[in-house]
Amino acid sequence: MVRIKMWHATGTKRTVNYRVPAGINKARHVTDKPGSGSNGNGKNINEIKRELDSLVGLYNVKKHINEICAYMEIQKRRLQERLRAESQVLHMIFKGNPGTGKTTVARILGRLFREAGILPKGHLLEVERADLVGEYIGHTAQKTREQIKKSLGGILFIDEAYSLARGGERDFGKEAIDTIVKGMEDHKDNLIIILAGYRDEMDRFMETNPGLRSRFPIHIEFPDYSTDELLAIADMMLEQRQYKLSTGARDELRLIIQTMSRLHQHNGNARLVRNLIERAMRLQAVRLVGMPRTTREDLMIITREDIKGAHSSISIN
Ligand SMILES: Nc1ncnc2c1ncn2[C@@H]1O[C@H](COP(=O)(O)OP(=O)(O)OP(=O)(O)O)[C@@H](O)[C@H]1O
Ligand SMILES: [Mg+2]
Repeated sequence: MVRIKMWHATGTKRTVNYRVPAGINKARHVTDKPGSGSNGNGKNINEIKRELDSLVGLYNVKKHINEICAYMEIQKRRLQERLRAESQVLHMIFKGNPGTGKTTVARILGRLFREAGILPKGHLLEVERADLVGEYIGHTAQKTREQIKKSLGGILFIDEAYSLARGGERDFGKEAIDTIVKGMEDHKDNLIIILAGYRDEMDRFMETNPGLRSRFPIHIEFPDYSTDELLAIADMMLEQRQYKLSTGARDELRLIIQTMSRLHQHNGNARLVRNLIERAMRLQAVRLVGMPRTTREDLMIITREDIKGAHSSISIN
């Protein structure tokens, strides 16, 4: 008999005895939830997968996550057939420019892993250099350990992780990296770490830290969005908020996105689109608030003028 740890969506852990064939003496991260619709719990996983699928573009990202999900599901089925069920290291590197969906995807992953029984809580703790690096000897290890503690059971997402290597050997960033590596070993059953940042910087960071490279086997690239993808993201954001663009507004938005792509250092940025849309919603409100009566349509439509006004007041180029 071996003891297998099982995490439940409620955050409780259960250890069960499982009879396995001779020669198999180790299994981790295994859950008793059959997933993918094979019982009531599978529904949640499918809902979360649908949420991931509903994100615009990101085909490669979705493909990677699909592979991970399929692997998890098959391990469960193998276990039911008394075959060896191996856990894999799921620490990841997310490479991409700002606003390309890294945090959004990481948050979905946390929930997916919780439902799959890989993580007990599945929450996402997003930190950056300032949250990890301290000001005097010993301070960094303490700060980093605190963040690791808060993220246990979920995902520790370190944005602009390459900045930890900024000052070289004598910088406290190095101490943060060492503490993170130790945390990964100490808590390998209930912590997933995602390092995020610009592609080139992350590649360089990994090259200068060979110890880290082997510990982060999954690398996922988040490409810049195309103009059409950004327009689709704008539509999605508006639909979620029960607004819509007039034809003129849509033409204007396309033009702005095209200009943005030409001029802006980090084109393909969905956050800039969100800021623009949210500002346009406020300008629509100002336009309507003085009117004695407004129709349902009035309350939903964003006009060309709203978009123009939003663009002129938001620095996106
Ligand atoms: N593919 C997508 N489909 C729909 N909405 C998206 C998509 N990608 C990003 N968004 C939206 O764009 C905004 C920015 O995304 P997010 O915060 O995930 O980007 P990020 O890569 O983490 O950026 P940063 O590096 O600046 O932290 C969010 O509001 C998110 O919901
Ligand atoms: Mg982010």
